[in-house]
Amino acid sequence: MGVTLILSLPAVVIALVVGIFALKRQSGDRRNLPPGCFGWPVVGESLSFLFGKPEKFVCDRMKKYSPHIFKTKILGEKTAVICGPDGHKFLFSNDQKIFTAFRPHSMQKLFRSYQTSASAQIPREAESKLLKSPGFLKPEALVRYLGKMDYITQQQIQTYWEGKVQVKAFPLAKILTLSLACRFFVGTDEPERISRLINYFDDITIGLHSIPLNFPGTNFYRANKSAAAIRKELRTIIKEKKAAMTSGAPMLDILSNMIVATDTSGKHMPEMEIADKIMGLLVAGYSTVATAMTFFMKYVGERPDIYSKILAEHMEISESKKDGELLDWNDIQKMKYSWNVLCEVMRLTPPLQGTFREALSDFTYAGYTIPKGWKVYWTVNTTNKNPEYFPDPEMFKPSRYEDDKVFPPFTFVPFGGGPRMCPGKEYARLAILTFVHNVVKRFKWEIVCPEEKIIGDMMPTPEKGLPVRISSH
Ligand code: HEM
Ligand SMILES: *[C@@H]1O[C@H](CO)[C@@H](O)[C@H](O)[C@H]1NC(C)=O
Ligand SMILES: *[C@@H]1O[C@H](CO)[C@@H](O)[C@H](O)[C@H]1NC(C)=O
Repeated sequence: MGVTLILSLPAVVIALVVGIFALKRQSGDRRNLPPGCFGWPVVGESLSFLFGKPEKFVCDRMKKYSPHIFKTKILGEKTAVICGPDGHKFLFSNDQKIFTAFRPHSMQKLFRSYQTSASAQIPREAESKLLKSPGFLKPEALVRYLGKMDYITQQQIQTYWEGKVQVKAFPLAKILTLSLACRFFVGTDEPERISRLINYFDDITIGLHSIPLNFPGTNFYRANKSAAAIRKELRTIIKEKKAAMTSGAPMLDILSNMIVATDTSGKHMPEMEIADKIMGLLVAGYSTVATAMTFFMKYVGERPDIYSKILAEHMEISESKKDGELLDWNDIQKMKYSWNVLCEVMRLTPPLQGTFREALSDFTYAGYTIPKGWKVYWTVNTTNKNPEYFPDPEMFKPSRYEDDKVFPPFTFVPFGGGPRMCPGKEYARLAILTFVHNVVKRFKWEIVCPEEKIIGDMMPTPEKGLPVRISSH
């Protein structure tokens, strides 16, 4: 008895010491995590994140916990939200070192028809490489789109705007954006096909950030059904395209190039994978561009003084061109004031609120430790409306960007920053400026419902589609 006690004493002591250390480490860990709250079991704080604008979700918690970083649990993941210019700088300059891309589970499921969950992250890397490498979205390539872009925009305005007294800007911006994207990414321009696709894309956009519960009535259910419908349509298009290509049709769009592309072992991409990739591209470029065009109509419709300055810029460009001559690269470079206006539009209403990353290792930020595997979220609003960089942040003031004023890095970030900055930025700039040119040249407009509510929790959306009264010059 006595012997056992003596023998086991060291064991007890060791166990105690180890236990105390373990406890200490654990509580030390806990003390080092950022402030914040994980919310309810399972759903965490997802409901307040999804139903209530993300910028409000973030702003409320910055006030409550810390202006630099806080923890939460959203969309099924422990997440650190990084805020402010220092946060953005840290995030964007450590991309691919500490951080890798992460898509919420709802997105992974909507875009994953062909692969297993283990490789869910890979396609995004591959996709962004694919977009960047053949240079479809680089200025050199975009120059070639420009005339056609102008032509399509003119046609659309003729069809949907000309001769009307009142139009709804948002739905028309969506038709235009999807028509352009279908032309340049997919190589198709059949209006019936495009109007069929539009509702599907709206459903997917809403379902991108959602709780992935697949039963009738949920946003995810509708998005998943629409994703299936789009894939089906895209596979029909791929078959048509392959047939056309064997009979020698030229390959001018991204889709054709994906069809002929081979990997290092000479294998072609499976049709399902192509469909998913093209769908991803269309989704990324659809509502963002349409939102920027729509809020341009809204903010400028409220400000005749700004409208006059934009008009002057575009009349000068028009007068320098022959009748019927389409826009070229030079003309775009002259649209400086218009682009300043658009920057202000996107500062006040960012088309994309923010995105996620995953931590590849433990890291320390602002004195807190964030464990490996946690997700990290950033939002545009934590800098775009900061009065330190943008005095009177709620004022619509395109003059902020005049004289090539530069803002401190990572304060003006509607397209993100660092290696993962939006690859569609230049394409978006051309599409939006071409729209601005054609609308301003033909019409002046007034906002029909100045008090129209902006709904849409993840995507800012005018409740009634932004009706405007238009009249030609
Ligand atoms: C006004 C229009 C647009 C805005 C404001 C916008 C904004 C953004 C933002 C903030 C990101 C996230 C960057 C990050 O995570 O750090 C992003 C990513 C992306 N955007 Fe855009 N975007 C626009 C138009 C487009 C267009 C037209 C396309 C397609 C041609 C596009 C394709 C993409 C893709 C593929 C990504 C993911 C890149 C990656 O993860 O590496 N975007 N965009
Ligand atoms: C956006 O950020 C600014 C300051 O950073 C804040 O005052 C504003 O309330 C935020 N917007 C929302 C809707 O929370
Ligand atoms: C989405 O719909 C497809 C049918 O098109 C179904 O097989 C799949 O299970 C659904 N996805 C999820 C995550 O429920």
